[in-house]
Amino acid sequence: MSNAEAGPVFPDRIESERLVIRSWESDDAPLLHAAVTASVDHLRPWMPWIAFEPQTVEERRALIEQWCNDAADGKDRVYGVFLAETGKAVGGTGLHNRVGPGGIEIGYWIHVDHCGHGYATELSQVLTNTAFGVDGIERVEIHTDKANELSARVPQRLGYTLTEEVEQPIVAPGEVGINQTWILRRGNWTQRRDGG
Ligand SMILES: CC(C)(COP(=O)(O)OP(=O)(O)OC[C@H]1O[C@@H](n2cnc3c(N)ncnc32)[C@H](O)[C@@H]1OP(=O)(O)O)[C@@H](O)C(=O)NCCC(=O)NCCS
Repeated sequence: MSNAEAGPVFPDRIESERLVIRSWESDDAPLLHAAVTASVDHLRPWMPWIAFEPQTVEERRALIEQWCNDAADGKDRVYGVFLAETGKAVGGTGLHNRVGPGGIEIGYWIHVDHCGHGYATELSQVLTNTAFGVDGIERVEIHTDKANELSARVPQRLGYTLTEEVEQPIVAPGEVGINQTWILRRGNWTQRRDGG
């Protein structure tokens, strides 16, 4: 499953034990709006795009359309994270084509009212599995600012290795400007999957 020109092709919908991770659709704009609006203060320290808040529902709809176009062009995949049981939107995630050949980066945020239930870990595990299901993906990366300890716990729990710490421009107010790169390679993933 890969498109040599546009990058790897990932599914539109992925399910895990408690979550449905699927492409945002135009009709989800109010759900995205409610989740981000409730979480602005919680996301502001870490997510650079919060600087564009407040946004209207219509602006979110336009953003969703842009994400759909990007996905169709084989660029980044941006997904909503929904509770399987109720359909409630509890966060956002993505598979980003910005870490060079053979790699893909997972990003995530969780609705402020739904943190502490292991959802970031669960979605990262299933996206890791999904990524390694695609030909040509040899490593999955998660990038965290050194100050974002809650986020760094996610790759740690999933067996990722901290491979690099480099200075980078501060793009959100909670950051200290040191980017940590966490990597899981295909071989280590297979080993963990097989209980090794
Ligand atoms: C960082 C962030 C994504 C973590 O989300 P989360 O869903 O709360 O994270 P986790 O999946 O790690 O769960 C957190 C806790 O719930 C616990 N937990 C509770 N129930 C659980 C379950 N059923 N399964 C697994 N973990 C569970 C975990 O053990 C963890 O506790 P610990 O850190 O003390 O070990 C969230 O705080 C967030 O959105 N932050 C702002 C945005 C951000 O920083 N994004 C990342 C940028 S790199």
